[in-house]
Amino acid sequence: MATIYDKWWQTGVIYQVYPRSFQDSNGDGVGDLNGIISRLDYLQWLGIDAVWLSPIYPSPMADFGYDIADYTGIHPLFGSAADFDRLLEEVHRRGMKLLLDLVPNHTSDQHPWFLESRSSKDSPKRDWYIWQDSLPDGGVPNNWLSVFGGEAWEWDANTQQYYYHAFLKEQPDLNWRNPEVRAAMYDVMRYWLKKGVDGFRVDVMWHMIKDDQLRNNPTNPEYEPHMGTYSQVLPVYSTDQPEVHEVVREMRAVMEEFEGDRVMIGEIYLPIQQLMAYYGVDNKGAHLPFNFQLLSLPWQASSLAVAIDQYEGALPAQGWPNWVLSNHDQHRIASRVGQLQARVAAILLLTLRGTPTIYYGDEIGMRNVAIPFEEVQDPQGLNMPDKNLSRDPSRTPMEWDDSENAGFTTGKPWLRLSKTWQRNNVHTQQTDLYSMLTLYKQLIELRAKEPSLHAGDYRPVYADNQVIAFKRCLEGQQQFLIVLNLTHLPCYFRPPHFTFSGTVEIATFPEINGSRVENSISLDGDEGLVIRLDSQQ
Ligand code: NOJ
Repeated sequence: MATIYDKWWQTGVIYQVYPRSFQDSNGDGVGDLNGIISRLDYLQWLGIDAVWLSPIYPSPMADFGYDIADYTGIHPLFGSAADFDRLLEEVHRRGMKLLLDLVPNHTSDQHPWFLESRSSKDSPKRDWYIWQDSLPDGGVPNNWLSVFGGEAWEWDANTQQYYYHAFLKEQPDLNWRNPEVRAAMYDVMRYWLKKGVDGFRVDVMWHMIKDDQLRNNPTNPEYEPHMGTYSQVLPVYSTDQPEVHEVVREMRAVMEEFEGDRVMIGEIYLPIQQLMAYYGVDNKGAHLPFNFQLLSLPWQASSLAVAIDQYEGALPAQGWPNWVLSNHDQHRIASRVGQLQARVAAILLLTLRGTPTIYYGDEIGMRNVAIPFEEVQDPQGLNMPDKNLSRDPSRTPMEWDDSENAGFTTGKPWLRLSKTWQRNNVHTQQTDLYSMLTLYKQLIELRAKEPSLHAGDYRPVYADNQVIAFKRCLEGQQQFLIVLNLTHLPCYFRPPHFTFSGTVEIATFPEINGSRVENSISLDGDEGLVIRLDSQQ
């Protein structure tokens, strides 16, 4: 007997807003909170249930807000505390939820905690960060590398020690073995939860605790020169330590202090088995450890089919799945698989079992935008200029209409727009039956309406090297068959030992919406179908 899943973060759709790039309201070329408020009607029209904001806190912006100088403030670039309160109210008024980005692994080097910590070896906050002497030969304490290039240790001439930073040197890692650090960060969580925020996406959750002996990481035998320099070693001692699960459980306990269904989503890039541990014993860890398989695996039917089944099979009892196609650190789906195949991907994202997170702009098929070398802003791109690792291309301004700067700003946008914004934007797509936006809206609507799609079981039906097919079913409810051609070439769907009949509800080529299908389908390249099965199948 299937369990009914009915929490909003299980049945709903999450939408990631990158605040710098969503909507500017004051002409400075950078998006802000009032801008987001002005676009909430759009998100409601689209059928979004929850909005996740990338960081909006005071920050020197060395890593565009992921270097936080005050966890409970609002950066003036984005607005004021009052603007935030209004945003929260307006989101709730529309029946939606608001999630914030919590960045507990590191602060800005300008955070008062770090300024205090680095002021002297005797500072009461010295142990809030990870300080180490140099090796006897003067070298760094170990071979750990920064994700953004170079060594992960920065020398502090004043106090004659190194501090550890998994990301920029402007982002020193907190020492989560220190109970005062834990208590301080749990108070940050309480501050926002008390205000009524519905949950957090927790930045780099798997980085939070490091090996207590700071052992050297092993060399990565599969490293290739095109990869980021971080991949030269395997981060087995600098990330995913057993003690992190105690921290995650404590964070979850803080969430549970508050009424309502608050949600904790963990950003975790790990293989499935390690990822599953973040649900915690008895599901008392993260509600949703982000599942990034659709953005990291090659877009091939057979490998994705296996990955989906492995993930379904590995989930703990009552552990709820989730899926992601793009985010602000990765290439946009339309650039990775092409515009036509991105429609197939949209169907996959919105019909698999589990909570989908949509990255702003993916719903209009935005692609990575080429940013001229002189305009690159992302530190990851700037620090490793020969590796094409800048994340700017997937962070460009939302394209709303064909007015100046696509309606994003009246000033100069902080990153340039695509070449195609005048013909390809929310406004043109809203009334176009064949647009990506219409496809997303129809899928979100159907998913919300049909219990099989938002709460039902996932049953694999068939996969080969072109096609993936699965059923979504809930007892007593109409069942759906999803058939997806993950290639550009036509193929047949004639699974042995499986008969079916039904009506095409949504198709990548809307011309066939409403048509009947039975037992055998010839699929065009890039064709995907959501089929409402006749009863009794
Ligand atoms: C993960 C965030 O998604 C990314 O944008 C950021 O640069 C790093 N964490 C460091 O906070």
